[in-house]
Amino acid sequence: MEERGELSQGQLSEERSAEETLRPQNLDEMIGQPRLRENLSVFVQAARSRDEPLDHVLFHGPPGLGKTSLARIVATELEAQFRATSGPAIERPGDLAALLSNLEAGDVLFIDEIHRLSPSVEEILYPAMEDFQLDLMIGEGPTARSIRFDLPRFTLVGATTRAGLLTSPLRDRFGWSARLEYYPVEDLEQIVLRSGGLLGVDVEPKAAHEIARRARGTPRIANRLLRRVRDFSVVRDGDARRVLLDTARFALGRLDVDEAGFDGLDRSFLTALVEKFAGGPVGLDTLAAAVGEDKGTLEDVVEPFLIHCGFLTRTPRGRVATERAFAHLGIPVARV
Ligand SMILES: Nc1ncnc2c1ncn2[C@@H]1O[C@H](COP(=O)(O)OP(=O)(O)OP(=O)(O)O)[C@@H](O)[C@H]1O
Ligand SMILES: [Mg+2]
Repeated sequence: MEERGELSQGQLSEERSAEETLRPQNLDEMIGQPRLRENLSVFVQAARSRDEPLDHVLFHGPPGLGKTSLARIVATELEAQFRATSGPAIERPGDLAALLSNLEAGDVLFIDEIHRLSPSVEEILYPAMEDFQLDLMIGEGPTARSIRFDLPRFTLVGATTRAGLLTSPLRDRFGWSARLEYYPVEDLEQIVLRSGGLLGVDVEPKAAHEIARRARGTPRIANRLLRRVRDFSVVRDGDARRVLLDTARFALGRLDVDEAGFDGLDRSFLTALVEKFAGGPVGLDTLAAAVGEDKGTLEDVVEPFLIHCGFLTRTPRGRVATERAFAHLGIPVARV
């Protein structure tokens, strides 16, 4: 569905401002991910009671599950300043050096898409993370020398959808690495009800359940579906204050989200795998070409959810559809 790159500029800015409104601001407001929240709360309390900065943290997992929200929550809970950048935004080592040397003690530095740092930038980050030291090269050629500065003790929070692409020296320098999991329907229901409250609409519990059930385990998608269903409530029911089950069903039917919560791309991926390749095994490159979609998107967005739902497995010989996938598409298992 809209998730990937088909949003217009106007939709994008609406999307961003809605995300800011709905973002949980602290650990108590965050719903779901119980183990992660509990651990984070322990680490934050321990750091605060020792009056030390929190160890560097890495959040990883599929898009829209709350990595950026958590990075901000870390800063809020530590009552620290939050500074944000991203892997692709740091082009040269000097850019990172400038960022680091402007930090104050206890600051939280958030690097989104941290798997996209260039190797020369990473080199600067290693001693900064480990020893709070900044090594800078001054001059060029035979007269070049390196000078070393002390940095204030800071906390680096990294986020990535692709933990597997992180180099091991970088991965090893995080004191804690936490994986965000897809949310169960009950948690998404709570998120939809909370978001309804923030948007000023009363969402019927059954409607919240219906939206949650079809949200791909993802809070961002649950919130987006809620906003679209609310549009239908306004136009179809003339009621801007309430979201009813019947309207939710009707709207979701219009939004190309099926009973399992799969969207158009999920279905074309599964259909290609099952119909063109008899359920696999087939390589990802071949599948990407058949679906006409970028390989990275399939790997980051589509596959993790299909695997999570038990519709797909990855084998050394390629991707394989499970019997459930065949059943979902109403196709008899043809594989031998
Ligand atoms: N646990 C949660 N409780 C309530 N709302 C949440 C939760 N997690 C995420 N959200 C909502 O989902 C939206 C997306 O979350 P966020 O931006 O933190 O995801 P992300 O993991 O950083 O995604 P990406 O990988 O695309 O950067 C947020 O704006 C917030 O409204
Ligand atoms: Mg993010």
